[in-house]
Amino acid sequence: MQTASAPAAGPVPIAASLRNATVRFATFTAIDKISLDIEDGAFYSILGPSGCGKSTLLRLISDLIPAAEGEVTVFGKSTEEARLAREFAFVFQEATLLPWRSAIDNVRLPLEIGRSRGLNLPVSERSPAELLELVGLKGRENALPHELSGGMRQRVAIARALVCKPKLLLMDEPFGALDEMTRDHMNLELLRIWQETGVTILFVTHSIPEAIFLGQKVLMLKANPGRVREIVDIDFPYPREIALRDTMEFTRYSARLRQLLETC
Ligand SMILES: Nc1ncnc2c1ncn2[C@@H]1O[C@H](COP(=O)(O)OP(=O)(O)OP(=O)(O)O)[C@@H](O)[C@H]1O
Ligand SMILES: [Mg+2]
Repeated sequence: MQTASAPAAGPVPIAASLRNATVRFATFTAIDKISLDIEDGAFYSILGPSGCGKSTLLRLISDLIPAAEGEVTVFGKSTEEARLAREFAFVFQEATLLPWRSAIDNVRLPLEIGRSRGLNLPVSERSPAELLELVGLKGRENALPHELSGGMRQRVAIARALVCKPKLLLMDEPFGALDEMTRDHMNLELLRIWQETGVTILFVTHSIPEAIFLGQKVLMLKANPGRVREIVDIDFPYPREIALRDTMEFTRYSARLRQLLETC
């Protein structure tokens, strides 16, 4: 189990490292010389105004777009090597499930693709059925995506993301389309999964309360060009309860982050 305050023995291993990383789209600089170390096993929430480069940052780390300058490594490998070794997985705002495949067959898909290409991929010690149980979908293994709610579909997408045992999970507004109650529930589930699996999480959100509730740290980006505005430590222990949001300390973090956001 991870705790926010676990004492570090020796240097903390680094999941993702950026050194003066810059991303350009034609002449526009979306990310400007960002340097950052994400510790292995950490949970970072990422906040910032629309267009500041949150998705671009995740896409850079996940080898979907190249750095124009600087260096990005994931567990000491180039982003391409890390992608091929399935060191990370991506969860998007919309669960991109194959509609004709059952929940469990969607979870199996990355393994099947790997096998059909003759790749020797890492495989979670949890079976697809156990991963569905981990995300709270025991009993719905054979349901088709259209038979599931939006929150359930997103849980299938998370189970699928975990099937190749990634060490880093990149999540881009994964709960943005959910109603508030489902979102609260998914937040609790995600923290439980994080604690049970030890996976490092980078979680993009537009919601200040969600960022505080989940993260050990909130990475605040600023726009034009995208840079790190500040990294705020969230000093609440885990496991966290929803009632945490009603505390004075939580309100203080919200006020501080709102103020920071206004100056981004
Ligand atoms: N493929 C692309 N081509 C050109 N410009 C792009 C491309 N992708 C992103 N950008 C630009 O880079 C900047 C950062 O975009 P990005 O999608 O990373 O922002 P974001 O912080 O994720 O925003 P949002 O909160 O709205 O999702 C924006 O100005 C955007 O227009
Ligand atoms: Mg985005």
